[in-house]
Amino acid sequence: MVIIHSPVMLSEVLSFVPEHAKLIVDGTLGHGWHTIVMAEKFPDAKIIGLDIDEKMLAKARLRVESATADVEGWELLANRIECVQKSYADIQSILWDKKCDYILLDLWVNLEHFLATDRGFSLKGNATLDMRFDQGKTKTAEVVVNTYSPSDLKNIFVKYGDFTEKKAEELAETICRERNKNRIVTTFDLKKVLGLCGLGNSAVAVIFQAIRIEVNGELDNLETFLSTFAECLNVGWRCAIMSYHSIEDRLVKQSFQQLVNTWWFALLTKKVIVPNYKEVEKNKAARSAKMRVIEKTAELRT
Ligand SMILES: C[S@@+](CC[C@H](N)C(=O)[O-])C[C@H]1O[C@@H](n2cnc3c(N)ncnc32)[C@H](O)[C@@H]1O
Repeated sequence: MVIIHSPVMLSEVLSFVPEHAKLIVDGTLGHGWHTIVMAEKFPDAKIIGLDIDEKMLAKARLRVESATADVEGWELLANRIECVQKSYADIQSILWDKKCDYILLDLWVNLEHFLATDRGFSLKGNATLDMRFDQGKTKTAEVVVNTYSPSDLKNIFVKYGDFTEKKAEELAETICRERNKNRIVTTFDLKKVLGLCGLGNSAVAVIFQAIRIEVNGELDNLETFLSTFAECLNVGWRCAIMSYHSIEDRLVKQSFQQLVNTWWFALLTKKVIVPNYKEVEKNKAARSAKMRVIEKTAELRT
């Protein structure tokens, strides 16, 4: 059976796209699900799809080509989707002097990353500790685990993994002690070391997630985006962000609130949107998704 990533809250994402959107940015293209459906539903829109992972981008390109083959006017649709290997954090320089009408961020990883057992994201397969979305970067999970100081490791586990200070310190010290004996090179090496502190698979998965967030600078990227995207939107148009981690959702919530308080923005989701139980039943990966949407109502206050 082929398991592929399913688009989360697809109908909710579509419901917020302004009807006459001309330029949409899908900042986390992934498999291109959301993008393809937006392109089909909004025939006037051009879509720029960004992903920093070149392997994901290659898959998205294939999907765009095959999906468009089924659709009437497919040539037009294919021409309207541009897949670019860039980070959504660079949205300002990517758009340059243009502004867009809808920005979508569907954060986190693609199921594909966990299924690719050779990339070190999953603790199920034995692979080199890599975890980079962007293979052009030099910081891998192996670098983090073998070179970070005990206090830096501890901070990552507390901040991104929600471990207590005491447990995080024990984990960091155990990693540092064991790496002095033998470099921790693979996912199974790390799993074994964490096992010495009594961690079961679900706690190990949280440590893997914390290391992945650090490797890819995921929160830094989100913060950069949140401090710049407002300039990139046309008046009357929207930004929707789906997050899967409480820290990400908090950043989005605070930043949107600040824009409402200090700029001409309106919050369209007074209450955060979550997937309904039917979607969660079909797609477990959707269970922690939270979507917030904001609309720009006027240009910068002077
Ligand atoms: C949850 S998936 C997106 C799924 C997509 N909405 C779909 O329907 O197929 C998140 C994607 O964001 C990508 N990604 C992670 N950090 C990124 C960044 N800073 N800039 C652009 N893409 C990023 C990952 O490689 C992954 O493919």
